[in-house]
Amino acid sequence: MEVIIRSTEEEGSLLAAKIIERQVRDKARSVLGLATGRTPLNLYKNLIRLHQERGLNFSQTVTFNLDEYVGLGPDNPNSYYSFMHENFFKHINIDLQNTHIPNGFDPDLRTACNRYEAQIKEAGGIDLQLLGLGSNGHIGFNEPTGSLMSRTWLKILSRQTMKDNATFFESPGQVPSHVITMGIGTILESEWCLLLAFGEGKAQAVTQMIEGPVTSICPASALQLHPRVTVILDEPSAAGLKLAHHYRWIDSQKLEWQRYD
Ligand code: GLP
Repeated sequence: MEVIIRSTEEEGSLLAAKIIERQVRDKARSVLGLATGRTPLNLYKNLIRLHQERGLNFSQTVTFNLDEYVGLGPDNPNSYYSFMHENFFKHINIDLQNTHIPNGFDPDLRTACNRYEAQIKEAGGIDLQLLGLGSNGHIGFNEPTGSLMSRTWLKILSRQTMKDNATFFESPGQVPSHVITMGIGTILESEWCLLLAFGEGKAQAVTQMIEGPVTSICPASALQLHPRVTVILDEPSAAGLKLAHHYRWIDSQKLEWQRYD
């Protein structure tokens, strides 16, 4: 894994935006895997600014979101469909026909999962998959002990995740318990994974993901098996890493063509 530690969340988010900017400028029809949650909000703001001020063009970009709550339709303000439209899509020139979010409102959810996998394949696979990190080590909504070979599937959320995500809802009782998420196997097939984790609340999961064993107890540790993963952290989320000095040294030794900023 390429581990990059920046002083603050703002700096980390800016770097992530530069990586995505380069991807989209290099390949207009990039297929981006996108994430929701608090973590990518600053990144999306940066990308919107790059679109408005520097003409970053998303007209050919194709997107696939990681996950969605079961039972929340597009009109529900807590659906990830609404999240993406409010926080990103409506501010850029993306063709909404090219955006994909799992359909948690489909009467046949298993077929919806299989269809989502087929759509990713039809699009040629994901070039760059953006990921956040759950405080319990989940990626997408792949909770601890789920299969590391999984494909897009239905999952039941852990209590921890329901608690973590309750702040988005009016009351904790409104948080859906069921979700659709890309599987770990789906995520690992992406060409490149870009994971962001900020704040001390993520420090334990970050340490397990990078320096712990590959285990379904920490689903994000499966990323150790992927040949191209970039992890961007801030100081608080990196606080538990034993080899932080090593990652900083590697970062400082990079050649011009290896650097993102
Ligand atoms: C959520 C989402 C994930 C996200 C993670 C972290 O439940 N399903 O895709 O990366 O948990 O969320 P946050 O960024 O709000 O900490």
